[in-house]
Amino acid sequence: MKTINDFNFKGKRVIMRVDFNVPLNKDFQITDDSRIRAAIPSIEKILGDGGSLILMSHMGRPKGEVNSDYSLKHIQNRISELINRPVQFADDCIGEETEKVANSLTEGEVLLLENLRFHKEETSGDESFAESLSKLGDFYVNDAFGTAHRAHASTAIIAKFFSGNKAFGYVMAREIENAEKVVKNPTRPFTAIVGGAKVSDKILIVENLLKVADHIIIGGGMAYTFFKAKGGQIGSSLCEMDRLKTCLEILKKAEEAGVEIHLPNDSIIADKFDAHANTQHAPSNEIADDWMGLDIGNSAAEKFAQVIKNSSTVLWNGPMGVFEMEAFSSGTKSVAQAVADATSVGAFTLIGGGDSAAAVYKFGFDDQLSYVCSCVGALL
Ligand code: 3PG
Ligand code: MG
Repeated sequence: MKTINDFNFKGKRVIMRVDFNVPLNKDFQITDDSRIRAAIPSIEKILGDGGSLILMSHMGRPKGEVNSDYSLKHIQNRISELINRPVQFADDCIGEETEKVANSLTEGEVLLLENLRFHKEETSGDESFAESLSKLGDFYVNDAFGTAHRAHASTAIIAKFFSGNKAFGYVMAREIENAEKVVKNPTRPFTAIVGGAKVSDKILIVENLLKVADHIIIGGGMAYTFFKAKGGQIGSSLCEMDRLKTCLEILKKAEEAGVEIHLPNDSIIADKFDAHANTQHAPSNEIADDWMGLDIGNSAAEKFAQVIKNSSTVLWNGPMGVFEMEAFSSGTKSVAQAVADATSVGAFTLIGGGDSAAAVYKFGFDDQLSYVCSCVGALL
């Protein structure tokens, strides 16, 4: 795997795919710029060598149509502030006008292209669209880890047009290095913690984990589909009736593979989905009608913590309960604490994006874990 470290960019016009798909509020202000900040070292390496740079990204899913809500113009100033240089903007990511501006860039200059997904050819992986993009630069860099699982024109297809003149950026290199510590020869015992609402969202991760993990802890809404499949009473808890068979298959495969699955034996239950609902404690397979499990219970949290603390590698994806509501946050918090404790005694711990990353930031554990991956879809 060649990275930008293997090259000098003096006099080169580099076109770099980044993932600047950052969240914006209703006034189009960036609410979390970490994906932009992550790419700064790659940007600085290229400009520092004396190259010029064309940045391209998608934002959201505008489905092939121009839609100013998804314009990358919203992030032009933020990039400029972070790199301390002016950033020019091209209203279209391809075309004669854009080629002219790209061609005229001199050492240290930066051009940001408009949203790639304003053209449907981006997501369909169209070759001639990729070729048009490739005309803008003489060297291609892919540093868009968050988009690594998409075979789009600007990621996989464009690379064909740069024989030899292409490399990965630092974000990509670092994410892959950390992911490999988990999936290739992890130090054992390896425990995976999987949570979130739906079994259907996590089938892929669980099936992959059955091949490598020693323990799989299952929490969050998805646990109740497992209890239902095993014949339990789960009241009005989340349940995917069409996934009962999947759950039984996972349990069977785990047994065959010698992977221990840990389900939360007790739950905090509520009489409605509400921060101020009445709550009780119950075994997860004996939940009364009209009550729903919204967090793992104390005994489950303790048991999970034991397993986590005895692990040398931990991968965590998905919360244990509705952690956004104080009354149902303690399970996720105690798992975060256990993961932090394991890290402090030498375990390698990786948090995979999305809600679990939001939870570790919210509870202030982000600097007590080995690595927070920027996009779990890409990690998988
Ligand atoms: C993401 O945030 O998931 C990445 O930017 C990829 O976006 P996508 O899921 O719309 O392809
Ligand atoms: Mg996505």
